[in-house]
Amino acid sequence: KVLVIDFGSQVTQLIARRLRESGVYCEVHPFNRANEAFIRDYNPQAVILSGSPHSTHWENSPRADTVVFELGVPVLGICYGEQTMCAQLGGRVEASDEREFGRADITFVADSPLFEGLGTIGHEERVWMSHGDRVTALPEGFHVIAKTNSAPFAAIANEEKRFYAVQFHPEVTNTPRGSEILKNFTHRIAGLKGDWTMAAFKDEAISKIREQVGKGKVICGLSGGVDSAVAAVLIHEAIGDQLTCVFVDTGLMRMNEAHEVVTLFRDSFNIPLVHADEGELFMGALDGIDDPETKRKTIGKLFIDVFEKHAKEAGGADFLAQGTLYPDVIESVSFDGGPSVTIKSHHNVGGLPARMNMKLVEPLRELFKDEVRALGRELGLPDAFVGRHPFPGPGLAIRIPGAVSKEKADILRKADAIYIEEIRKAGLYDQIWQAFAVLLPVRTVGVMGDERTYDAVLGLRAVTSVDGMTADYFPFDHDFLGRTATRIINEVRGVNRVVYDVTSKPPGTIEWE
Ligand code: XMP
Repeated sequence: KVLVIDFGSQVTQLIARRLRESGVYCEVHPFNRANEAFIRDYNPQAVILSGSPHSTHWENSPRADTVVFELGVPVLGICYGEQTMCAQLGGRVEASDEREFGRADITFVADSPLFEGLGTIGHEERVWMSHGDRVTALPEGFHVIAKTNSAPFAAIANEEKRFYAVQFHPEVTNTPRGSEILKNFTHRIAGLKGDWTMAAFKDEAISKIREQVGKGKVICGLSGGVDSAVAAVLIHEAIGDQLTCVFVDTGLMRMNEAHEVVTLFRDSFNIPLVHADEGELFMGALDGIDDPETKRKTIGKLFIDVFEKHAKEAGGADFLAQGTLYPDVIESVSFDGGPSVTIKSHHNVGGLPARMNMKLVEPLRELFKDEVRALGRELGLPDAFVGRHPFPGPGLAIRIPGAVSKEKADILRKADAIYIEEIRKAGLYDQIWQAFAVLLPVRTVGVMGDERTYDAVLGLRAVTSVDGMTADYFPFDHDFLGRTATRIINEVRGVNRVVYDVTSKPPGTIEWE
């Protein structure tokens, strides 16, 4: 397995993605946690040093623990990783005020296994270069393997020690053959086999669960989402009916969602499931609350109460299963140590473990979202279920700005279902990260037939995104928007106007609340 030491680049996670795509298992850990003891214990077969917003010239700029260079394993420095590698091994790095990214063509000036299969001396290769500080003198034992006009040390190597460093970013798609370069590093140079597959992961995960749980009982909270469903099916495959699932139905789910989850689990998978049908309770608790954060906290707290109650009724358990994913686990690199601003206090079942004092089973901790989807397919979950758009824990409550009511939720559910149906019909569902309707607390005047109407405005939102952190609005064509708006206004009583949200994130967020 490979260790990726993170110095805080925006694209560090992409290194992990590219490695895993080529069948190599790796983990990302922040530089300030990857100390000597940690690294020795991790026992990596290769190390990659990430990029960083830092300059090696700034005071206290981050460094890789020197043990990295003493393990005898291959090391690859990327961008800042190149600079720190040079600085730490006795080369020279010169400061530059500008930090700029852009397309560049590197020319190979020496043969190296890092570039095998791409070309030989004189070959030009398109890369995504990061111009910033520059290496000006190489450490001993290194030579240049690629350059550009403005970057004489675009790629360097110490073949004997198997240390490599590049000034460009092989992990981004703007470096078209970057994956091959990374694969040369992991497969050819580090000798990894690339045999990490989803089927292998599944078998390994199942034996780990069996080992952890023994004869104990496990309880799993289903949210209707993909992550908790995949976790539950995996655990069920491992320990059968030692698992009980509790599906907390908040009454704030999408159309037919509760029914689909219940039938899928009970009928298709034969997994014991408690359907906690608590819509009225949630609606009552939300009565009159219009502040988004208060809504989230109210729902989050009630969710815990309800889950706990039903878990007790189901006979209790020794373990709590959660569908925590890798992006939730990766510690983000924090340089100033200061708290970041809370934009939204995302509700998930995070408060449960402390309260219930149970040991956790988190079989998806090492996976990215699309890997969870692949695992779901491997486990036999239907494509349509596994490919579903993410849905927030507080559900429709945060898609009804202002106070929530059952009537509003019903209107929103109907409109949302039509919108999603049209998206599926147009074959666009899988191109979109998330699409949903928002019921606005605004009424406008309209005319239907000869009648004056005075009804609500519905906002439609659809975004593309890789991880939900940033997003662009989806460019529907006008026919699609017109058709969908007409259907919604004709079929959903209570809505007489439809608008489309063209805000990207940032500055907007995906949800309206
Ligand atoms: P925002 O609106 O912050 O959303 O751009 C980013 C992603 O997070 C989801 N989201 C939530 N998920 N509880 C959740 O479990 C929440 O309170 C919550 N708020 C937003 C949102 O749907 C999107 O996928």
